[in-house]
Amino acid sequence: MMSTDFDYFSSHGLFSHENDLLSDTMFNATGTKWKTLRSKLSPSFSSAKLKTLFGMLYQLGDRFEKKIEDYSKKGETLDMKNLAMCFGTDVVSICLLGLESDCMNYPESDLGTISKLMSEPRPVKFMVENTVNWNLLGTLGYRVWSKRIDNFFLTLIPDALEFRKKNKLSRNDMIGLLIQAQDNDQLTEREVIANIVSIYFAGYETTSTTISFLMYELSKNQEVQDKLRKEIMDLRKLTPDGEFTYDDLVHMKYADKCIYETLRKYPPVPEVPRAAVKDYKIPGTNQVIPKGVLITTPVMSVHYDPEYYPNPEEFNPENFSPENKAARHEFSFLGFGGGPRICIEPHKGLQPNELCRHQQGTKKRLNGGQGRGNSVSVFVENRNENKFNHSIITSVRK
Ligand code: HEM
Repeated sequence: MMSTDFDYFSSHGLFSHENDLLSDTMFNATGTKWKTLRSKLSPSFSSAKLKTLFGMLYQLGDRFEKKIEDYSKKGETLDMKNLAMCFGTDVVSICLLGLESDCMNYPESDLGTISKLMSEPRPVKFMVENTVNWNLLGTLGYRVWSKRIDNFFLTLIPDALEFRKKNKLSRNDMIGLLIQAQDNDQLTEREVIANIVSIYFAGYETTSTTISFLMYELSKNQEVQDKLRKEIMDLRKLTPDGEFTYDDLVHMKYADKCIYETLRKYPPVPEVPRAAVKDYKIPGTNQVIPKGVLITTPVMSVHYDPEYYPNPEEFNPENFSPENKAARHEFSFLGFGGGPRICIEPHKGLQPNELCRHQQGTKKRLNGGQGRGNSVSVFVENRNENKFNHSIITSVRK
């Protein structure tokens, strides 16, 4: 479905209608439209392009590190998921829109509030989209996002586009790259606006969830934390000023394993959807999946299958050693989906990876993670004083 017979299942089965601009994205598109958009947007995610954004990410990592230290000194409780979400918002605001949101210091800023609203579960909307005819919904003025989110982005992005064009401002952020694509007649303004919003959402929500669970698991697994810290400290010794560049990230092999293991245990997208775009006869049977039927791949079930991951409850980064990866079916890890529709961002681990460098490079040790209702708490220990002086609450989505 995801790979060999992808032509039958090239859709995510998500609502899209021309009357709702923000639903007209690559994520929601199907067939040829999706293919064309994907090939037009992919160059903006090339390693060369992302490398130019790395400097901005690096500075925000410093701010994250400082934030943890501030909370640690004050002895206040910190909501880790919130901080990670603010970090993610700051990253996408600057890398995508060229705006300094400083959500880490001002969580109630406009962009901070919008990110929070976008992350709220939307069960009723999903039910409506899956049961009511889309043409009818579109004609009735149905919107994927709430009016507030719609109004916010439909004012902000056209204004930013106009300002940049009028003042001939060219910058190396994502909006700048998409303007270039528009100038070369590759993208329409409508496509630029809709896709910026969906990339904004995809960019902060998945990564912030990963970061909070990663911190939680590090707090529960001291040997893993020690090994990760050692990898980072050893790498720092090799660089002239103790600082990393984008190219150094490739050497963070253990950090990568930790991130993949986090995504295995806590996939931010726990079900990957596909909808049949034409009737599909299941090979070797008389069963036909009719066009329009939505099928979801239960990522959690695959990731917790002992056939692929012995002791699936255990946090074991070695599940992602080159040998173990090679011994498994290629679709036994679905954290980024799979096949031609796999996540477009080639360095999916970039933000968590960068944070590992910052967090584990400090004197703070994460400790004593524990579940509490639908949240978990993690302590950050100041290693110099060798005592717990700070507690982080990381919200966990069940
Ligand atoms: C830990 C981080 C991330 C995770 C776990 C993740 C996961 C996913 C998953 C599961 C899909 C669906 C794939 C499929 O249907 O087979 C997806 C698609 C996508 N992701 Fe990511 N993602 C991450 C980071 C990002 C970032 C940072 C961006 C952009 C800045 C991004 C942009 C996208 C886009 C645009 C798509 C749609 C691709 C298409 O429909 O062709 N993702 N991602």
